[in-house]
Amino acid sequence: MAPGPHSILGAKHLLCPLCETSNTAEVLHPSTDQRSLVCAQNHTFDIAKQGYVNLLPVQQKKSLTPGDNKEMVLARKKFLGLGYYQPLVDALAENCTQHLSATHVQTAHLSTSQAEAAPVILDAGCGEGYYTDNLHNALAPQYPDLTTYGFDIAKPAVIEAAKRNKSLNCFVSTIKAIPIASQSCDLIISVFSPMQPSEFQRLLKPSGTLMVLCAGKNHLHQLKSLLYDNTSEYDEDKFLAQMDSHFTLSKRIAIQQTMAMHNNHDILSLLAMTPHFWRTSPEAKKQLDCIQQLAVDIDVQLLQFAPKHPAAQDANNRGT
Ligand SMILES: C[S@@+](CC[C@H](N)C(=O)[O-])C[C@H]1O[C@@H](n2cnc3c(N)ncnc32)[C@H](O)[C@@H]1O
Ligand SMILES: [Zn+2]
Repeated sequence: MAPGPHSILGAKHLLCPLCETSNTAEVLHPSTDQRSLVCAQNHTFDIAKQGYVNLLPVQQKKSLTPGDNKEMVLARKKFLGLGYYQPLVDALAENCTQHLSATHVQTAHLSTSQAEAAPVILDAGCGEGYYTDNLHNALAPQYPDLTTYGFDIAKPAVIEAAKRNKSLNCFVSTIKAIPIASQSCDLIISVFSPMQPSEFQRLLKPSGTLMVLCAGKNHLHQLKSLLYDNTSEYDEDKFLAQMDSHFTLSKRIAIQQTMAMHNNHDILSLLAMTPHFWRTSPEAKKQLDCIQQLAVDIDVQLLQFAPKHPAAQDANNRGT
């Protein structure tokens, strides 16, 4: 059982972000008073009252408040709480369950030492934890010893994620250098977040998988056409090309549904959680003020990737 009030104290795969940058990769342990995580070099990271830990060294901060700001985080939380994106959660949970059942025995009946093999999942760019929490809750009944990590560079997002569920291990960190031991993870999910293929490959076990949810070309197109004269198209070839040196695409599922919105509150909540809210003029946004009905398409790709074996990767890089 995890010691103390929060599962973060039992997290076994954490590395010190300060030692890691000097290539010595010290493990982080709970301090004696269980109020912080500490490495053998005595670098200490306090556990905040909401239960998250900030593992982002100042030298990795490109701005004072990196990532999404509090307003964006709360807007996303409000819209996701309305339930319109449930089909995305369902698709993610179903495919993650399929992957784990192919690679793991269910741990409900295992002894403590066997439970070492319990699955480890990581949400890279977890935001306010909507998908992290829902996926954890979907998997936990079959895998009670499941470890779930959520990483995001935005502190306001990580605070919300940690508040959702004490079983989530939430950290402020850049996904460019995630302070987790190599080959620890069975599953990495990345939902509408930036990609870091080499880092994701390092973190995954050879049998692990990466699940990506990204916008397809018709995603929210009715909303976009109300706001813009021309809408730019998502370049899937470019996206797949950036993955190619570290991952092989193993499955692709299109999640396509129409959200029938019947009140202005929901329509404005959708707008507020998209990047379009920040990009469009006040005049364009004003058009949405009196709309009470809108049918908006969800068009999302669930892409599942297998990490390339380093030997195969070398051969590819040499062109053999
Ligand atoms: C569009 S939001 C998606 C959040 C969440 N996955 C969801 O779908 O609700 C993208 C997230 O990526 C985070 N992010 C951006 N750059 C990052 C980086 N270098 N490292 C970690 N997180 C980053 C942002 O702070 C933001 O929370
Ligand atoms: Zn250290």
